[in-house]
Amino acid sequence: MTQTHQFDVIIIGGGGAGLMAALNASRTAKTAVISKLYPMRSHTGTAQGGIGAALGNLEEDHYEWHTYDTVKGSDYLGDQDAIEFMCKEAVQTVYDLEHLGLPFTRTKDGRIAQRPFGGHTNNVTGKPVRRACYSADRTGHMILQTLFQQCIKNNITFFDEYQVMDLLIINGAAAGVVAYQLATGELHIFHAKAVIFATGGHGRIWEITSNAYSFSGDGVAVTIRRGIPAEDMEFFQFHPTGIFKLGILITEAVRGEGGILLNDKGERFMERYAPHVKDLASRDVVSRAISLEISEGRGIKGGRYLYLDVTPDTVNHYAEVDGRTRPDGTPYRVTAEEILSKIPDITDFCRTYLGIDPAKQPIPIQPTAHYAMGGIPTDIYGRVVIDDKNTVLPGVYAAGECACVSVHGANRLGTNSLVDIIVFGKHAGIDAAKYANGADFQPLPEDAAGLAERTIAKLRSGDGKEKVADISKEMKAVMFDHVGIFRTSEGLNKALDKIKELRERYQHIRVSDQGKAYNTELTNAWELGNLLDLALVTTISALARTESRGAHAREDYPNRDDVNWLKHTLAWFKDGDVTLGYKPVVITHYQPKERVY
Ligand code: FUM
Repeated sequence: MTQTHQFDVIIIGGGGAGLMAALNASRTAKTAVISKLYPMRSHTGTAQGGIGAALGNLEEDHYEWHTYDTVKGSDYLGDQDAIEFMCKEAVQTVYDLEHLGLPFTRTKDGRIAQRPFGGHTNNVTGKPVRRACYSADRTGHMILQTLFQQCIKNNITFFDEYQVMDLLIINGAAAGVVAYQLATGELHIFHAKAVIFATGGHGRIWEITSNAYSFSGDGVAVTIRRGIPAEDMEFFQFHPTGIFKLGILITEAVRGEGGILLNDKGERFMERYAPHVKDLASRDVVSRAISLEISEGRGIKGGRYLYLDVTPDTVNHYAEVDGRTRPDGTPYRVTAEEILSKIPDITDFCRTYLGIDPAKQPIPIQPTAHYAMGGIPTDIYGRVVIDDKNTVLPGVYAAGECACVSVHGANRLGTNSLVDIIVFGKHAGIDAAKYANGADFQPLPEDAAGLAERTIAKLRSGDGKEKVADISKEMKAVMFDHVGIFRTSEGLNKALDKIKELRERYQHIRVSDQGKAYNTELTNAWELGNLLDLALVTTISALARTESRGAHAREDYPNRDDVNWLKHTLAWFKDGDVTLGYKPVVITHYQPKERVY
């Protein structure tokens, strides 16, 4: 039997963006969080290196520098008004987190410690600036813990292990969502005035990824099926340093603490690609450099990986070469103990998964699919916008990785994902509550759960000629090979044909477990459908963009083309067909120029 629940504001997703939205919405509106996981298992918990904010605790810094670095990092595709808003708010937001109880690592005199990260610079000298506020290499984990404790303290209602499958829009406004309860297999209707999607990313489209198994693009998939476009889906970030073959993230903080990327010749090759900031260039630049080193035969022992070396000898040698100093002006020198204390989780990962000690041996790495710059289009208040005129869809919100504000443009800077979830999670929560307090509930139709019911029935009753695991494996391989760091028209077309074939074969899968309780075969199958739809939208958006910008590197169109392509992609999805449109980028202070790192 379908149960109906009623709340003013429903938040979908229990990660950092969702919890921040919940905390803020619940102050003035009846609020609930629906999560397909227990919130403490959300992917925010894997964010390692830091949250960027120009506190200037260790050296001069300004939010305007953070703004410029983010605009430049985005390869000028980020909306500059939104970026300025985020970077300015980041400072107070970090203090807010501190006051909520977040245990930041401290400087000797007790202030929040900060470390360098890729693409964050002193705008006068061009040198890396210490801007990432951190909690060892567990910053996201600590954010999640802190926010969850606050949500519990504030008696927010949680529906854990509910998979949201549909968004209800009635009379052109939000009416709620339909969710599948994992424990019982029953559908529930959540009748709401405002709905906030905070469902994270979709890195599981690719073979090697740092993303959690749960990152299957559910929010974007549900909303595109209800006529909301997806923005800038061609821009997906590859983080330079994933553990070879496994993809598990090795934080950029390792390079922030002095780690160096080396090829098979023992050469610090980033000097050739980014002579000013070297290993701390933006991620698109470093990932491409690693990829080129490998394809030109300089992978370690001829293999498809390089080394990230954070052993004290290497760190101290290059610190001397670079003239790196500590904040007090003394030369930067580290011991093995110091390194290990700054990156305890990385040390554990290396010992567990690779059997090596990072203070003694280099870490084998390769780029790993990491972050969706694109997603559900929103304004700075998290309000979903549905066309090139930024028309707001009343009551529908998105925040965090599933949203595209757009502050990351074509390439996100490290640490800005945590800034994004906190700043825009907060504003989405505040605005959704405000909206809900002035709105009425939309009437629910008789068959509110109809689409979700039909979807489940189809998954259970297919002819079973095809297997979910096969389709998933083939999708990941073709996306990694052809819609990855480097792209060509030929490769993208190959990928497109394959994705179309896989979507057709998906019609023939059948869930063999006909049970109701914890039928993860069923939810996995549904998630694969989401990934396939987003793979299609990503590939079509990438094929259309005949230029190279940020994370979208076309070998057949190697240059950025501001005349024709300084614009956001909007992709509408209807019955398996994708229609593209475009909208302008907001430029305020910074005219596009060539990026030099
Ligand atoms: O490298 C990292 O610690 C990742 C951070 C991020 O994606 O912002």
